[in-house]
This record gives sequence, structure tokens and C-alpha cells, in this order.
Amino acid sequence: MSVASAPRQSQAASLVDGEFAFTTEDFRQIAALLYEQAGITLSESKGTLVYSRLAKRLRALGLNSFSEYCDLVASADGGNERATMLNALTTNVTRFFREPHHFDHLRDQVLAPMIPAIKAGKRVRIWSAACSSGQEPYSIALTLLSLLPDAANYDVKILASDIDSIMVGHGREGLYNEDLVEPIPAAFRERHMRREEGQRGMWRMGEAAKALVAFRELNLIGAWPMKGPFDAIFCRNVVIYFDEPTQERIWGRFAELLQPGAYMYIGHSERVGPQSAHLFNSDGLTVYRRTGAK
Ligand SMILES: C[S@@+](CC[C@H](N)C(=O)[O-])C[C@H]1O[C@@H](n2cnc3c(N)ncnc32)[C@H](O)[C@@H]1O
Repeated sequence: MSVASAPRQSQAASLVDGEFAFTTEDFRQIAALLYEQAGITLSESKGTLVYSRLAKRLRALGLNSFSEYCDLVASADGGNERATMLNALTTNVTRFFREPHHFDHLRDQVLAPMIPAIKAGKRVRIWSAACSSGQEPYSIALTLLSLLPDAANYDVKILASDIDSIMVGHGREGLYNEDLVEPIPAAFRERHMRREEGQRGMWRMGEAAKALVAFRELNLIGAWPMKGPFDAIFCRNVVIYFDEPTQERIWGRFAELLQPGAYMYIGHSERVGPQSAHLFNSDGLTVYRRTGAK
């Protein structure tokens, strides 16, 4: 049964008290669409969150109920609003140098040993697979620049992708307020960022880091145009929103793009499931290496 034609409850109690009627059935339809489009699973306990994130869309569109909103996003010409809904419902929390041990590992175990080969022309590719507003890929870039200040002159690139077009735009822009840049070591900030003229308290990522990062919109449960191979993939704090079969599919697809011995970094509350365990060896806390001889 399509989402659009699912039976609707009439006069059903609202799941959340507020300006707009929001029934359990409305919630289910929105959750089904989000799962279908992004692989994200939402339990009913997230009803208030869904309501608060989408109520402003109903106001902007002049709609009277979530049932009208569900009809719109399920309709053939609701494509734009489906994308807006998806952007509104993704959780984009991120930080520069979040889970700092990953960046220490990247610097000491992955990049530092590669520097002579990079200088001799080695190709290096790193993927930040759910990059949100750019803090993760820029943390990777700053880590690389700490070892190789002229990294942009070599064949080293960081792919930064996310399903949320607004976040990808923020990342590309590279403009952050003072609070957000706090976790960046002062020496990196002074060297690779500058205060934005005319915008008090805002910092812009400098060209040396920006030149290393390519931002793209990409759905992890959709087709991936890139062929790899990657030397490292950061996929942190996103599969936690997916169910187990979706997670296993993604680990398997990453494994195809990682050369033997290449690295994968995942979030602190995530794990590689039993079906994919043979594809990776643990290399410390939430760090994995693709199996196979190097
Ligand atoms: C909590 S943030 C994590 C950001 C960063 N990796 C970190 O750990 O700080 C999760 C990100 O995953 C993105 N996301 C959710 N579903 C996705 C999907 N199907 N494909 C790609 N990105 C997705 C969201 O838009 C959001 O920006």
C-alpha cells in the first residue's frame, strides 16, 4: 500500500497537543516516508520532535492539519516539500574534533606514515560520509594540514557528503560562530581560519582546508557515484538512526570501497554487526581496518 493511500483515522486523538491536529496515523505516514527516503527509523516517542520540527512548515504552507501535510508530501508534486521535510527531520548535531581520539589515530596511524608517499605522488582519498555542516571533514583537513601544510599541492582529497542539502551548503560556505570553533586548537584556528569581516564573532575556514574538501549531497541508502578506493571512511553518528539490515548493507558497501588495510571510523554508540564482522578488524575504540593483505 502506498503511503498516500494508507487508511486514515477520522477524528483520532492528537498525538501532541498543539496548534495542529497530529494523529498517530500522521506520525506513521511521516515516519514511513522518512524511512523510505533516508533509511531513518523514528519511534513514536519522537512524536513531539516531529511535530515541533514540522509545525513551522505547516504555517509557512498555510495548512490546517498534519493530515493535509501528509497528503502533500505523499503526492506526485510534493517532491520539493519531501526534501524540505527530510532536511527538517535529520539530526545534524556535530562538532569540530568530535571524538578526538579518531583524529589522533588518523594523524599518527594513518596519515603520518603516508606523508613520504604522498609527497612522492600517492593518491589519498578520505570520505566523511555524513558530514553535516562540515565540522568533521574540516577536522580531517586540519589534521592533514598539521602534517602537510601544502597538502593541496598533492593528490589528497576529502569527500564530504550528507543527505541534507542545507547542511551541505553550510559546509561549503565554511562560516562558523565563535562557540562552534572553540574545540579547534588555537594554533590551527589562527593558521587556517580567519575572522569574518563585518560579522562579529564569525570565523571562516581558510582556503588551505577548503581546497582539500569537496562537498556533495549524497544519500547513504541510495546510489553512490564514486568508485573509491578510499584510504579512510568516517561514518559517525548516522547509522544509529538506521535499522540493523540497513546498517549491515552500508558496512558491506563501505568494505567494497576500502582497500585492504584501509580504515573506517564510526560513532561511539555504533558497532559493526555480525554479518559484516569478517570484513573488518578492530583497530581500537570504534576504529576498524578492512581485512585482507595490504
Ligand atoms: C548526527 S549528524 C553526524 C555528523 C558527523 N558525522 C558527526 O559525527 O559529528 C548525522 C548526519 O547524518 C545525515 N544523514 C541522515 N540520514 C542520511 C542518509 N540516508 N544519507 C546521508 N546522510 C544522512 C544527517 O543529515 C546528519 O547531518
